[in-house]
Amino acid sequence: MHANMTARDFKKAAVIGYPVAQSLSPLLHDHWMREAGINGQYEALEVAPDALAAFVKNAAREGYVGFNVTVPHKTAILPMLDTVAPLARQMGAVNTVKISDDGKLTGFNTDGIGFLKHLKASAPGVDLTKPALILGAGGAARAATAALLTENIPLLMIANRTRAKAEAIVRDIGRGRMTALDWDDRSDAVSAAGLIINTTVLGMTGQNPLELELSSAGKGTVVYDIVYKPLETELLKSAKAHGLTVVDGLGMLVHQGAAAFKIWFGKDAAYDAALKKKLLEALGC
Ligand code: ATR
Repeated sequence: MHANMTARDFKKAAVIGYPVAQSLSPLLHDHWMREAGINGQYEALEVAPDALAAFVKNAAREGYVGFNVTVPHKTAILPMLDTVAPLARQMGAVNTVKISDDGKLTGFNTDGIGFLKHLKASAPGVDLTKPALILGAGGAARAATAALLTENIPLLMIANRTRAKAEAIVRDIGRGRMTALDWDDRSDAVSAAGLIINTTVLGMTGQNPLELELSSAGKGTVVYDIVYKPLETELLKSAKAHGLTVVDGLGMLVHQGAAAFKIWFGKDAAYDAALKKKLLEALGC
C-alpha cells in the first residue's frame, strides 16, 4: 500500500462462514472490483461460531468496507449489528454487512433480491399472478418467500420434509398468502403452480435427486432450482423434458453478490459472459 493511502483507500471486503473455502464470492467480487477499477481485495475468512462476535467487533477497525455472511452466521449476527434493514429483519437473516466511515455496521439481505432479479431476467414470461410452490424451508426458502411476497403473488405453497419448519415460515413471513403442505403431497400442488422452486439440497452433487412429478404442470410453468452444482439438476432435466421453462441457481448467486457490491461501492456489477466463463470453470463445468 502507498505510504499516504489511508486504510479505507484500499477496499477490503470478505465473506465469513464456517466452512467457507467453497465460496464463489471471492471470484465474483475480485472480478467486479477489477472491472470497476477499485483498489482492494475480497477474502474468504473462516470464522467459527465462537469467533463471530470478535470478528464483528473488530471489522471496522480492520478496515473492511463490508462483508458477506454465510452459513452458519446469517441469523446469529443480527443482534451484533447497529442497524438491520427491514427486509433482512423480516427474513431473520443477514447476508451482507456495510460498514460506514464512522464504523457503524448495517445488515442487509440480498438473497431475495438476487433470487427475484435472476428469475425475471431468465424467465421474463413467468406468471407471478398464479400460485407458486416452494420446496424446502431453510434460509434460501425464507429469502425466496420474502422476495415473492413483495410481488402480487396470490398464494405460496410450501412443502418441507420437516413440516414444522414450513409452518414457521408461514407464520413468520407468510402475510396471510401462504400455506404449508406435507412433503409427500408436493407433486399434487404442481398443477396449480406457475412457478416451482427447489430450495432444498436435493439434486446437489452427492445428494439424492429431488423427486417431483411434473406431468400435470401447466404450460409456461417455470421451474427454478437454486442448486448450481451441477448446473443442470435432474429436476431441471425433467422440467425441460416436459417443455417447461427452467432457471438454474448460478444467477441467484451472482445477483445477490451484485446487490452487495452495489451496497458497498455504489456501482452496478454485470453478469457478463467473461464472469459466467470464470464461474463455470471454477465449478468444473
Ligand atoms: P439453506 O439455509 O441453504 O436453505 P438449510 O437450512 O440447510 O439450507 O436447508 C436445507 C433444506 O433441504 C431444508 O429444507 C431440508 O429439509 P429439513 O428442514 O427437513 O431438514 C432440506 N433437505 C435436506 N435433506 C433433505 C432430504 N433428504 N429430503 C428432503 N429435504 C431435505
